[in-house]
Order: sequence, then C-alpha cells, then structure tokens
Amino acid sequence: MKSELLRILREAGDECVSGQSLCERFGVSRQAVWKNITQLKEKGFEIESVSNKGYKLKSEPDILNAPAIESYLPKDCICKKAVTYDTIDSTNTKAKQLAEAGEPEGILLVADEQTNGKGRRGRKWCSKKGANIFMTLLIRPKTEPKHLSGITLLAAMSVAGAIKDVCGADTKIKWPNDIVLEKKKICGILTEMSSEMNYVNYAVIGIGINVNDDDIPDELRKNASSIYLETGKMTNRNKLTAKVVEKFDEYYKKFLETNDLSQVVDKYNSMLISMDSEVKVLYGMAETADPKEEETGIARGIDKDGALLVETKDGIKSIV
Ligand code: BTN
Repeated sequence: MKSELLRILREAGDECVSGQSLCERFGVSRQAVWKNITQLKEKGFEIESVSNKGYKLKSEPDILNAPAIESYLPKDCICKKAVTYDTIDSTNTKAKQLAEAGEPEGILLVADEQTNGKGRRGRKWCSKKGANIFMTLLIRPKTEPKHLSGITLLAAMSVAGAIKDVCGADTKIKWPNDIVLEKKKICGILTEMSSEMNYVNYAVIGIGINVNDDDIPDELRKNASSIYLETGKMTNRNKLTAKVVEKFDEYYKKFLETNDLSQVVDKYNSMLISMDSEVKVLYGMAETADPKEEETGIARGIDKDGALLVETKDGIKSIV
C-alpha cells in the first residue's frame, strides 16, 4: 500500500489528496491510511496534512526505501518486489541464496552499503555507505547459458539510459558493460548464473553505481568517479534505481522475443564510447599485464550476440 500511496501523492503534485479518497481507493479505514502516512513520515518523507483537504507530498528523502522504489515502477514491470538493506555482505550473494531457495524472478535487492561487494574477475567492489546504489535483480530467463552475456549488455544500456533520464548526464558504455562519464568509470555490472548445459536456472544481475559519492578513494580516482563528482548534482537514488529496472524490463522483454540483441543493437551502439574509433584488441590473455598478442582496429559496434566487431587490416573480427 505504501508504494501506491506514494505514487498517488506524487502524481497529485501540489494538490492535496483527501483521506476519504484514499480510504475508498484502498478499501481501508482512515486510521489505516493515517498509519501508513505516519510510517512514511518516519522514513523521512515530508507529507503535509492540510485540514479538510488531505495529504500533500512535500519532499522525498534520499534514503533507499522499497516502497519508494516500487512506487516509480510501471505496473507491468518484471520487478514486483524490492527489498532494501542498510548493510549487507553483497546483494549478489543474497540474491543467489534467495534464488536457490526458490524465489521467483523479479525480486530486486538494493543496499546502502556492502561489506563484501564483489567485482568482476574476483575483484572487490568498493562499497561506501549512504551515497551509492548496490542493486541486484533476480531473473529466470528461458534461454540458453550462451545468451547470458547479451543480457548483461542490456543492463549496461539500462543504466546509461536511466542516468540520462533521471540525471540528464550523457554516459557512454565501454564494451561490454562498464559505464563511463567523462571517461571515468561510474558503474560496474556483475552477472552470475546457475545453469545446466542448455538451461539457465537463474541469473543475478548485480549493478553498482557511484551516485552521490564525493569521496572516491585516491587510488581509484584516476579512472573512477561518481555522477555527483562529474555533474555537481545530487540524485534521488530510489528514482534512479527504479529507472534502471524500468529500462531493463523494456530491453529484456525485447531480448526474450528473439533470444538475441537484434532489436537493441542500434541503441547499444549509439551508447558505445569506442564506436568508429580506434581500439586495441588483446587476444588470449586479455586484460592481463602480458597479453599474448595485440592488434589495433576500428570498433564498428556489436552484433546481435553482443560480440564487438572490429575492423582490422585483415577484415572484420568478432571479439567475444
Ligand atoms: C565490476 O567489477 O565492474 C562489477 C562490479 C559489480 C558490483 C555490484 S554492486 C551490487 C552487486 N553486488 C555485488 O557484490 N556486486 C554487484
């Protein structure tokens, strides 16, 4: 009820919403409405009670809050349930535990702080409290494991699109799924899955976004930043979280129609930082200090399976 209540108050803008209309809408007593309003106020929502007129939403706090996230989601969204944590070891770890216990597709876990945040290739993900977004969405796609990398690319597009809509900032995707703003990484994505040979049991899509952080550790500052540090603007994290999920929902439904990225390739390529620019391809031991072989070429975007197409002197090569 709280998420719907917030949605109604937000949509009413400067108008008051009468207690009576809320009672009728939810089929509950005035006291029940008042109790929910009080609980929202306790969470930091500023709701004015105007005598004989009703309730007005004056401001929303930047505190991660499940009803607030849900209140921004479209009705037919894959995500029906958000759970927020003050502190957790890792939202990916928790999502995998829930998946193993039979949790259906669509639950979203969001934390204010992680004590054991996981990055790709066994790295840690730095997880300062109170300023960033650490979120994981559980999905159970009816697809083969080989298609999962494509789904991670959808998540990258969702983050870039959401940041554009909510913060007005133009981010780019560094293939396959880092998000950069002013050439600095502000978001990383870690997808983990449980699968059989031809069948995905579940996948957890973990997304870490540096949002209002003004204190990126010195050793990371050269290559990493936050939305706040690059734009000077604070962002409502509930709204941004929900927008990422809304965008993902849209792209994911398109993906499932064809089991590939054919419907979103152009969109992805429009966000690709290296599009039509020179890139260095490292073969074999990619991303280690000692790559076996390297070659330069011009990035020509991804194909429908998410591989990066690079034009080299020997023709187009497909990098997976
Ligand atoms: C990367 O190395 O770029 C990927 C980082 C992914 C971090 C996110 S934060 C939410 C989720 N929970 C984790 O433990 N990791 C992912």
